Amino acid sequence: MKVLSFIVAAALVAVTGASSNSSTLGLLKYDGVALGDWEPAYQKASAFVAGLTTAQKLALITGSSVDSTNGSFTALNILDGDMGLQNYFYVSAFSLSSALAMTWDRDAIYDQAKAVGSEFYNKGMQVVAGPTSQPMGRTPWGGRNVEGFGPDPYLNGQATGLTTKGYVAAGVIPGAKHFILYEQETNRTSMGGGRGSFPGSMGRRAVSSDTGSAPYSSNADDKTLHETYLWPFYDAAKNGMGAVMCAMTKVNDTRSCENSDLLLKHLKTELGFPGFVWPDTMAQNSALESAINGEDYGSSRIWSTSTMETMLSNGSLTETRLNDMVTRNLMGYYYVGLDNGLQPESEAEDAYVNVRGNHSKIIRQNGAKSMALLKNNNALPLNKPRVMSVFGAHAGPVMGGPNQGMNIDGAGPTYQGHLASGTGSAQASYPYLVTPYVSLTNKAVEDGTMMRWIMNDTYTGASSSKLIPESTDSTAVTPSYANYATNADVCLVFLNALSGEGADRTELYNDDQDTMVNTVADNCNNTVVVINTVGPRLVDQWIEHDNVTAVLYGSLLGQESGNSIIDVLYGDVNPSGRLIHTIAKNETDYNVGICYTAQCNFTEGVYLDYRYFDAHNVTPRYPFGHGLSYTTFSYSGLTIKKPSTLSKAPAGNRTVGGYADLWDNVGSVSVEVSNTGSLDGAEVPQLYLGFPASANQPVRQLRGFERIEIAAGKQEKATFELRRRDLSYWDVTAQQWLVAEGTYEVYVGASSRDLRLNGTFTVETS
Ligand SMILES: *[C@@H]1O[C@H](CO)[C@@H](O)[C@H](O)[C@H]1NC(C)=O
Ligand SMILES: *[C@@H]1O[C@H](CO)[C@@H](O)[C@H](O)[C@H]1NC(C)=O
Ligand SMILES: *[C@@H]1O[C@H](CO)[C@@H](O)[C@H](O)[C@H]1NC(C)=O
Ligand SMILES: *[C@@H]1O[C@H](CO)[C@@H](O)[C@H](O)[C@H]1NC(C)=O
Ligand SMILES: *[C@@H]1O[C@H](CO)[C@@H](O)[C@H](O)[C@H]1NC(C)=O
Ligand SMILES: *[C@@H]1O[C@H](CO)[C@@H](O)[C@H](O)[C@H]1NC(C)=O
Ligand SMILES: *[C@@H]1O[C@H](CO)[C@@H](O)[C@H](O)[C@H]1NC(C)=O
Ligand SMILES: *[C@@H]1O[C@H](CO)[C@@H](O)[C@H](O)[C@H]1NC(C)=O
Ligand SMILES: *[C@@H]1O[C@H](CO)[C@@H](O)[C@H](O)[C@H]1NC(C)=O
Ligand SMILES: *[C@@H]1O[C@H](CO)[C@@H](O)[C@H](O)[C@H]1NC(C)=O
Ligand SMILES: *[C@@H]1O[C@H](CO)[C@@H](O)[C@H](O)[C@H]1NC(C)=O
Ligand SMILES: *[C@@H]1O[C@H](CO)[C@@H](O)[C@H](O)[C@H]1NC(C)=O
Repeated sequence: MKVLSFIVAAALVAVTGASSNSSTLGLLKYDGVALGDWEPAYQKASAFVAGLTTAQKLALITGSSVDSTNGSFTALNILDGDMGLQNYFYVSAFSLSSALAMTWDRDAIYDQAKAVGSEFYNKGMQVVAGPTSQPMGRTPWGGRNVEGFGPDPYLNGQATGLTTKGYVAAGVIPGAKHFILYEQETNRTSMGGGRGSFPGSMGRRAVSSDTGSAPYSSNADDKTLHETYLWPFYDAAKNGMGAVMCAMTKVNDTRSCENSDLLLKHLKTELGFPGFVWPDTMAQNSALESAINGEDYGSSRIWSTSTMETMLSNGSLTETRLNDMVTRNLMGYYYVGLDNGLQPESEAEDAYVNVRGNHSKIIRQNGAKSMALLKNNNALPLNKPRVMSVFGAHAGPVMGGPNQGMNIDGAGPTYQGHLASGTGSAQASYPYLVTPYVSLTNKAVEDGTMMRWIMNDTYTGASSSKLIPESTDSTAVTPSYANYATNADVCLVFLNALSGEGADRTELYNDDQDTMVNTVADNCNNTVVVINTVGPRLVDQWIEHDNVTAVLYGSLLGQESGNSIIDVLYGDVNPSGRLIHTIAKNETDYNVGICYTAQCNFTEGVYLDYRYFDAHNVTPRYPFGHGLSYTTFSYSGLTIKKPSTLSKAPAGNRTVGGYADLWDNVGSVSVEVSNTGSLDGAEVPQLYLGFPASANQPVRQLRGFERIEIAAGKQEKATFELRRRDLSYWDVTAQQWLVAEGTYEVYVGASSRDLRLNGTFTVETS
């Protein structure tokens, strides 16, 4: 106990030490953060800054190029986003981040980020507006959940970290977003109306800032902030995040881009973030407040030369801080090596610069890997069906497309065509779109299948002149759900759910689509439902129908969507996707809805998604982590390597990514997984930990996963490394990550509710 209070006191000193001179909080080199492998970038940036006039400094932080005695710097091109370059010809349309997270596959996530990054690099872009860690999906109605990696901080953190690393490997600067607690669209720019105007795409070299009227304020307690929302940004900081986008919304009633607690204390000091903070569109609202509270790059209109010079001359903005802003704008540039002169120049959007390489393969593979098989009563994989009927607007192309300016003011709730990309900042530039209709047709040609379709969610039957007598036993039949469902070997029903930037979801299921499924199923004893959705999509309206024999469920898959889906339907790919959110039986089972008040209190704390369902014994339809395979797996041989005695608080240096030893592996858990079926397949064993009561944690939390490919009849070992941070909780008194002494429960299973093996280990602290 004595030792404990000593360490806690030391931790307090470390943090308050950094903030004792409020004018130096968050300044590089004044903040006590060891820059590690960012140090060479700091040296280069400092040397460059030393050669700039004040006017040049002001130009640089507002997005202009400068020529100085020490060379020239061309303004950074910043562009959306994780799904590929927006608004460009000859680029790839990748799957959205939530689809990637559904792969639970570290290599897939990294490889795709590297591919996306290489397209940015080769198009002359320097900053990707991504990874998109958040919105996390606090509420299933959140309009932009599809853009992020989901509500589990560990999985989200892994994906955010790997995406950051992939962008760095490609030579571009990762600009993580949105910082922070930005979890819904309603009232995001102004109260009394949810849908803020959005002056076009951010574009090249544009400074994405403008004044908006007051948005809602997200208010989360310190523990929730750290354990849920800040957690994935640690992973980004650790892996090379060079920019951070501050959100449009407020936190604790202060705008995110003017919030010193968020930007100076948490981001730049606690996480040791060395890069620049730039505002989302309409997120900068002031000159002085933004400049002194942590924004580093902003609007040339708001940060006009005259305003900035007045602030410098009257002492409200120090030269030290201005230099810090400029340096931070250069850190990522030098860190990823963009100063080597090798990057191609940017050219017009429609210039023939083809940067796609073999990325269509990655997109197809990752799309297939991401689809989760929720239910399968021996319906899949398909095997040369003789008669196949296909239903739903989502099976085929939209009437005009695929590229268009998709309205960010809440498109949806469904899309009248195949949905494979997002809206607003998440809208990809398709070179083409492979719909399920195209892929199924190719397959029908190959297999000799007879294929019929009604690609409409509300079709009520065509009037027919009936020259030939009608009979469901002949092809002379009026197209209707019932008629085409009758006598089919398999009925495929395609559903989507659409929302996006600018508005939240209005529904978690759709009556027209659900009527279609039930009508088909009433007449077809082998009804397979395929869903691509922007967030939780309920299935209880038909899941217990005897004739719904299989459900394949996923996010938005990009240009190869139809191929990815068909690869799984026909068994060319054995499904291994896993849910990243809980599918409830009823929407009333979810604990967090959209907030309509000016103050949005995150009173649920850390209890998002399965953490809430577990704590309140709510039975989900399909739990977080669920997904079936065409083969079966068994688990055995749980082995725990428990940590040796740990210091209660981290004892290492403060560095980029926080205290260095938060990242140390301190123990591990391993299991043997056997493929007990007759097909090769991939399983995703998941490690959930229960903490000692004193840590005040949810019942169980994901703290490890591994996607492993296992040949039929073979066995493979999965090992989950536990880092200090995986065993830590945020102590609000110590203002520090601490390790609780006591017994930890270990569960390994195939989902958060399918726990196959369990054990315990104890932790002693010194
Ligand atoms: C605070 O930081 C400023 C800028 O570096 C420096 O000039 C000043 O002396 C510092 N004050 C204290 C009390 O350390
Ligand atoms: C940059 O310019 C400053 C001032 O002109 C000079 O002192 C410094 O040595 C220069 N640095 C480099 C790397 O040229
Ligand atoms: C938030 O937006 C909704 C929908 O536009 C509106 O009805 C509500 O009044 C807004 N809330 C406040 C506090 O203005
Ligand atoms: C917001 O206010 C709450 C309650 O005072 C506090 O616990 C929390 O740390 C604050 N959040 C931030 C980001 O400053
Ligand atoms: C300094 O100038 C800025 C910009 O005009 C202004 O916002 C601020 O209030 C001034 N501060 C002082 C101390 O005069
Ligand atoms: C779908 O069918 C309905 C009813 O037959 C019709 O009104 C509607 O225009 C069709 N939608 C499309 C996109 O073709
Ligand atoms: C399902 O329907 C098909 C076609 O109508 C029929 O051939 C088959 O026997 C049915 N299967 C079952 C299990 O009822
Ligand atoms: C299932 O489909 C068959 C047609 O294949 C139909 O006869 C039966 O009534 C359907 N079952 C249900 C429960 O609707
Ligand atoms: C969901 O629960 C509400 C309230 O209990 C109920 O009215 C509704 O019918 C349920 N919906 C479904 C799809 O079961
Ligand atoms: C949010 O929390 C504050 C502080 O506890 C409280 O005053 C306010 O009424 C709450 N707002 C809402 C909408 O619940
Ligand atoms: C902390 O940093 C100092 C100075 O760079 C170094 O000497 C020391 O070894 C580091 N400590 C640890 C635990 O890494
Ligand atoms: C742990 O596993 C055993 C079987 O090995 C089982 O009986 C027990 O219920 C499990 N405990 C928990 C808490 O899941």
